[in-house]
Amino acid sequence: MRIKDLVRKDVEKLEPYIPAPSYYDVKLNANESPFDIPDEIKEEIWSEVKDEKFSLYYDPTALELREKLARYTEVEKDELVVGNGSDEIIMVLLFTFAGPQRKVIIPTPAFPVYETFTRISGAQPVRIPLIKPDKSEPWQLDMEKIRENYLNNDEYGIFFVCYPNNPTGSYFPEEHVMEIIENFNGLVIIDEAYFEFGRKSFVNYINRYENIAVIRTFSKAFCLASMRIGYLIANKDIVNEVYKVKLPYNIGLFSQKAAKVMLDKISYVNTVCEKINTLRNKLYQELSKIEGITPYPSITNFILCRFNDGPVDEVYQKLIQKSIIIRKLEDPALYDCLRISVGDEKDNRILLDNLKLILKEG
Ligand SMILES: Cc1ncc(COP(=O)(O)O)c(C=O)c1O
Repeated sequence: MRIKDLVRKDVEKLEPYIPAPSYYDVKLNANESPFDIPDEIKEEIWSEVKDEKFSLYYDPTALELREKLARYTEVEKDELVVGNGSDEIIMVLLFTFAGPQRKVIIPTPAFPVYETFTRISGAQPVRIPLIKPDKSEPWQLDMEKIRENYLNNDEYGIFFVCYPNNPTGSYFPEEHVMEIIENFNGLVIIDEAYFEFGRKSFVNYINRYENIAVIRTFSKAFCLASMRIGYLIANKDIVNEVYKVKLPYNIGLFSQKAAKVMLDKISYVNTVCEKINTLRNKLYQELSKIEGITPYPSITNFILCRFNDGPVDEVYQKLIQKSIIIRKLEDPALYDCLRISVGDEKDNRILLDNLKLILKEG
């Protein structure tokens, strides 16, 4: 017997996702926060955790956390589902609404998890390339193509909108997203993983349009990537369906408590966002000054950069040799691009100095 003969044919074709190891001196590849939470907050999380029984399963519906989140997001607690990272929310939404015979629209380049779990659900991803600008301007949705082929068409079940988009870094025009919401005949998943850096949102529309599901995370502005907490904001009909698919005990005690404590520290989160936005704007200015690099505008904690001389493998490898890791992406439209997460002052400086050196050496 060969395992290759047993595995599902569509799964066999996938590549495993192997994240870069974390031993590099400068780690700017995964859009994490460069600022860890202070020890006092860690102590507070621990003191909440240690009073609980570790021997029992912890709250399967994350009720206390949802109550706090409801205040933060200004929706009802029954319009929220908490997941093991927003990755899990994406997976559960696809398992609930995609599946065999369904088609899922993904404007690309996009967050790769959309396509992977579309395939694992048995559905077919339909990639619509974004319009790539020549200069430092936002990448745009190809609305002409979208209008012509995908709106008011029963063939398509899900439309992903990443807002702002990872990896391109900017928002799509609000009127384009509204046009999609109003004219798409299926579910529109709006991924707001980077919401806190720019604060534009579609959450207010979850009850005006029945077909919106918004996703957010604690991994970026809330500085809690290690805890794996993400959440869905959607109307109750969507939430009820998702609960049929979600794992019963998907979030551990520690993570629920950590997220709950952080929701009491919004002023800390806001300060982190302001710091990151300032660092990002400075990094963008500095990158613009380097000959050979075109950084795209960003409203997130990362910047996508085009290297004007073409393929980026060499630059990427030379940075790795200096123990600096940024992100090389698979999408063909990004053959000449690398994505840089915003680091602290020191890491950004090391990156900039090395990039200048590498490009000068040629
Ligand atoms: C657009 C987008 N959505 C979702 C995620 C997943 O975040 P997490 O699973 O850590 O909540 C990421 C992570 O980088 C992301 O960039």
